[in-house]
Amino acid sequence: MGIKIDTVIIDSEETSRELILNYLQDVEDINVLQQFSDILVAQDFIIENKVPLVIVDVTTKTNISLDIISKLTSSVKNIKIIVLSYEMDSNLVIRTLRAGAREFLTKPLIQNDFIEAVQKMKDLILGNINDMTKCKVVTVFSNKGGIGKTSLAVNLAMEIANITKEKVALIDLNMQMGDITTFLNLDPSFDTSYVINNLDRIDETFLLSTLEQYNKTSLYVLADPPDIEQAEIITPEEISTLINILRNIFSYVIIDTTSSFDSKTITALDNSDLILLIGITSLPSIRNFQRCYDLFKKLGYTKDKIKLIINRFMEADKIKPDDIENVLGEKVFFTIPNNYYTLNDSIEKGLPVSEIAPDSNLSKSFKQLAALLSDNYSYNGSKHVQINRENKFNFLGLFNKK
Ligand SMILES: Nc1ncnc2c1ncn2[C@@H]1O[C@H](COP(=O)(O)OP(=O)(O)OP(=O)(O)O)[C@@H](O)[C@H]1O
Ligand SMILES: [Mg+2]
Repeated sequence: MGIKIDTVIIDSEETSRELILNYLQDVEDINVLQQFSDILVAQDFIIENKVPLVIVDVTTKTNISLDIISKLTSSVKNIKIIVLSYEMDSNLVIRTLRAGAREFLTKPLIQNDFIEAVQKMKDLILGNINDMTKCKVVTVFSNKGGIGKTSLAVNLAMEIANITKEKVALIDLNMQMGDITTFLNLDPSFDTSYVINNLDRIDETFLLSTLEQYNKTSLYVLADPPDIEQAEIITPEEISTLINILRNIFSYVIIDTTSSFDSKTITALDNSDLILLIGITSLPSIRNFQRCYDLFKKLGYTKDKIKLIINRFMEADKIKPDDIENVLGEKVFFTIPNNYYTLNDSIEKGLPVSEIAPDSNLSKSFKQLAALLSDNYSYNGSKHVQINRENKFNFLGLFNKK
């Protein structure tokens, strides 16, 4: 006997629930935890119990159901949702999949199709088959400006695309103030605002032709809207929907942010699998790290969601990554060396660092980080740059250890 997969059934018809239960008996290791007649009642139960498999009929209360499905897919990691409906409208199918559901089956249910769908979800949950739509959303954040967020987001996205050859989306959430197009010397025809205004017609072909493909690589860029009014009217919900849609098409989504905790940034952080919290080895930066950690804690983020990155590190720096670890009680995930000349040359030329200085310490560093964050890839080399302990600066007393 294998691991049991907790399952919730939501259907307003009792006979239908009974039929589903009956069919489920033919799939091994499915454990029906609870049945509901209304998704509104079921949603908290699913979130609290992190239920991995949900079978839900959306024939009635369709819009509310789709909203809740969307909420469930962003609240319960790796949840798999099978949607059932008497309606067989292609628009509904698209909306359902866009909300994050994985399967759409029409009623009356065909036993074999249903069992096959459940079996597929079960294999995905147990990791028996490769989940092609498994996407990692990584947001680069710092509550301080000019710290290197865009430099990291751009070069990381480029290197993940280079290493994995999988589709990577690079999104500029610096509404109206974005730098990504400058860093990559792009003049895209479309931007976030355009994509968001067309959310109802988004499919893979549309997205791949709307995002700007970088130089025939698998990197696709979505720029910020140049117009402030367009930027202003984008809502956090729309950002959330956008990220969910991108999840279905790209293997990685890298998001560059502003330095403020505004609602759009928080939405991006909420919807991310990983947050790269970036700073430098200075006292103000450490204070900022602390503030961010406090806020992330309030937002309910788990520790493994946040990866601490030290940028612009120099051997001669008095404060070392180890010192930061001691003060914060958090691990430094990665250290990027200071190389002002190379990075500025790259920005001026509008090319990623790997193209202008492939052998530089900076290029190697971005490659290493990309390999670390990409699935199934490794790199040779040390995660942290070597630390010269002789320069240790004793500042521990300045902070209250957590
Ligand atoms: N590792 C590094 N070595 C040297 N210089 C760096 C490094 N990373 C970033 N910089 C420099 O810091 C400056 C700011 O970088 P960047 O624009 O990436 O920061 P940012 O956090 O995105 O800024 P903003 O808050 O304005 O969006 C750039 O001029 C860049 O050259
Ligand atoms: Mg920036």
